Amino acid sequence: MSGGQQWWQTAVVYQVYLRSLADANGDGTGDIAGLRDRLGYLSDLGADAIWIAPWYSSPLADGGYDVAEYCDVDPVFGDLDQADALIAQAHAVGIRVLLDIVPNHTSREHPWFLAAIKGDPAARARYLFRPGRGEDGDQPPNNWISHFGGPAWTRMSGPTGAPGDWYLHSFAPDQPDLDWSNPEVAADFEDVLRFWFERGVDGFRIDSAHGLIKTAGLPDLSDSPTRHGHPAWDQDGIHDIYRRWRSIADSFRPPRIYVGEAWVDDPGRLARYLRPDELHAVFASALIRVPFRAEALRARIQQTLDTAEMIGSPVTWSLSNHDTVRHVTRYARPQPATSENSAWYRRQRGTGPADLALGRIRARAATLLALALPGTTYLYQGEELGLEEVEDLPDQLRQDPTWRQSGHTDPGRDGCRVPLPWSGDGPTLGFSPPEATSPPWLPQPEHWIDCTAAAQASDSRSMLTLYRTAIWLRRDHLLDAGPVTWIDTESDVLAFRRGRICCYLNTGSEPIALPPGKLLLASETRAGSMLAPNTAAWLTAQS
Ligand code: GLC
Repeated sequence: MSGGQQWWQTAVVYQVYLRSLADANGDGTGDIAGLRDRLGYLSDLGADAIWIAPWYSSPLADGGYDVAEYCDVDPVFGDLDQADALIAQAHAVGIRVLLDIVPNHTSREHPWFLAAIKGDPAARARYLFRPGRGEDGDQPPNNWISHFGGPAWTRMSGPTGAPGDWYLHSFAPDQPDLDWSNPEVAADFEDVLRFWFERGVDGFRIDSAHGLIKTAGLPDLSDSPTRHGHPAWDQDGIHDIYRRWRSIADSFRPPRIYVGEAWVDDPGRLARYLRPDELHAVFASALIRVPFRAEALRARIQQTLDTAEMIGSPVTWSLSNHDTVRHVTRYARPQPATSENSAWYRRQRGTGPADLALGRIRARAATLLALALPGTTYLYQGEELGLEEVEDLPDQLRQDPTWRQSGHTDPGRDGCRVPLPWSGDGPTLGFSPPEATSPPWLPQPEHWIDCTAAAQASDSRSMLTLYRTAIWLRRDHLLDAGPVTWIDTESDVLAFRRGRICCYLNTGSEPIALPPGKLLLASETRAGSMLAPNTAAWLTAQS
């Protein structure tokens, strides 16, 4: 940790999508025991913390973001003893543990929802059931659309079997939204937080953190009485919830932390989540949607830094996560003029093959950029191996609800969730043990045999070696280096200085001359003092 800063203000956090990290029991799905076996690898990489995607009991309709019991671990991932052992073992090697809490919705299999559909009034009051519109109530109660496509409402049968009320689901029908105006919902989640904090977890990533409170009356989108866009998102009442959550986190020693997934574009509105008595950080997701273009990157970085400065909050950076097209693939096709969302990047697969060699070269450069910026950097498992999006998964194996809900027009997010290649040339590339009884839950591309962690560990030019070197140099040179000062330079080049360290990124098509200075690290081998297209370098300035 650097002087005066809290760990979560400068950490490198490694995102674990548990299903796909490492499978210790051979059933084809990653598990906690598999993660425990990889803690040494994560410690060598230089991870300060891990964020683990939901491991709670779940039918896995949305990869675990559909929780059936918040105070237990799904048997496919392990059990509470395994969870305790993981937390202890991670702490022993200096890695903090963040879990992922999903408060906006439960699974349809959660006992509350099961009781609700049997007619228990108290259980129904935890969800958003409403009568339909139209003569027979056969129209949804409002015009909201689910995030995965289709209406955000599903109709249930009433007690007699006749069609009854509808329930709201901002995501898949398997994920009914909770009614956070119900004090029992709030109280139960406070118990969930305490349950895991008492077991030693260091904090939570909050899933869909800006979605919990809906505008009263659930008005149609066009009739929204607020000035803040959609009546289901970023409503003012949400901040009371996070003030209570913060007081719970602060009551533990050491205090626990929260990082919100909050897709709020207006910097002033986003800032409200980061007031001193609310969340510690939010995902600005600044780099995830931005093309590999110096000007666009610089503009987005500056905007993110300005927001952070306005409220004195730390910044978070990430290039990929479990919801987005892996950045090797994003960078492997012609770059859009401005930022685009993940569905747009997924559609590009229809435009022609990806130049993955180019994508990887650019990804190496982008990594040096992300790790040179002040704040926290989130890495998504497998990016340190240079993995690409798997765009040719057989359709019948796709599991992401986006695929189904979009009427099979959007392939969904499975392509970034393929099990990791660890070692060897066996059928699972070390993801599962040799005696495994089932294949990996998604098939790995054959050519991943060349990019296993073991193959890369001893290769000085590999992506893995670049990540390790960069993360360790970052610890030594960049944590206390101070704010970003932009350096004026050619267009297509992004350059800034932090203390004595300068970072140059060339997104253009011509080499550029670097100023004098000692080279700390370059994303590709450098010829003399020139920086090639699609590369980045860290230099120590002479003065
Ligand atoms: C968040 C998660 C995503 C999940 C959704 C619904 O956006 O990152 O994976 O599908 O919430 O819980």
